[in-house]
Amino acid sequence: MTSEPRLVIAIDGPSGVGKSSTSHLVAQQLECDYLDSGSMYRALAVWCHHKHIDPADAGTVARTASYVDLEIVTNPIDFRIAISGVDLTDDLHRPEVSAIVSGYASNQRVREILNKQMRAIIADRGRIVVEGRDITTVVAPDADVRILLQADPRRRIARRQAQLGGALDPATVSEQVIGRDTADSANAQFKTPAPGVELIDSTMMSLDQVVAEVIALVPEEKRFPRG
Ligand code: C5P
Repeated sequence: MTSEPRLVIAIDGPSGVGKSSTSHLVAQQLECDYLDSGSMYRALAVWCHHKHIDPADAGTVARTASYVDLEIVTNPIDFRIAISGVDLTDDLHRPEVSAIVSGYASNQRVREILNKQMRAIIADRGRIVVEGRDITTVVAPDADVRILLQADPRRRIARRQAQLGGALDPATVSEQVIGRDTADSANAQFKTPAPGVELIDSTMMSLDQVVAEVIALVPEEKRFPRG
């Protein structure tokens, strides 16, 4: 039994905008669980790729999504994801996975299957921050707080390059970030905020400022569960 107030925070945005760093910190500060929906798409892409299932084979991809056992630990300081007992967490952010994930995410049946799993996790956890592309609009349009994070593409590319530790040259990173935005825009609307969704432009903001702005949008009575 918990007397903690329920709280769902949905944060959407394009790649490299700082969704994950922001969501992690907000979840820790507000004692929430954390769900990175992109990791679910990434895990499925890794799994299908290992099994040589081409994204163009929509039926097989959808069948795979429906039978695999996706296990997710929604702890913000140790988020983990496994499929059928294989922990894939450390593979998710490899550049080769980023290059193929949109192809699997464009499968509408896959989206329906994963959305259902996300909604079940949200309903189960009580206090949770969920990040992705269509959380504010499709997965949890009734979330307590709905935010679209945006930033200038040059800033996003620079951030992604820093995350990769300079492993790829700026032109390749730029191609990946912009290319993925374009592919993902066909599946979800995350370029402009839907009605009722708050826009935060992080181009000129520090991570701490973005986190503070998100927390300021949470109704006060839901902010501090034990306060
Ligand atoms: O957020 P992240 O960049 O890790 O997401 C990886 C990919 O998963 C995206 O490029 C997109 O193809 C897909 N995705 C999606 N809908 C979401 C979250 C992610 O289609 N809600």
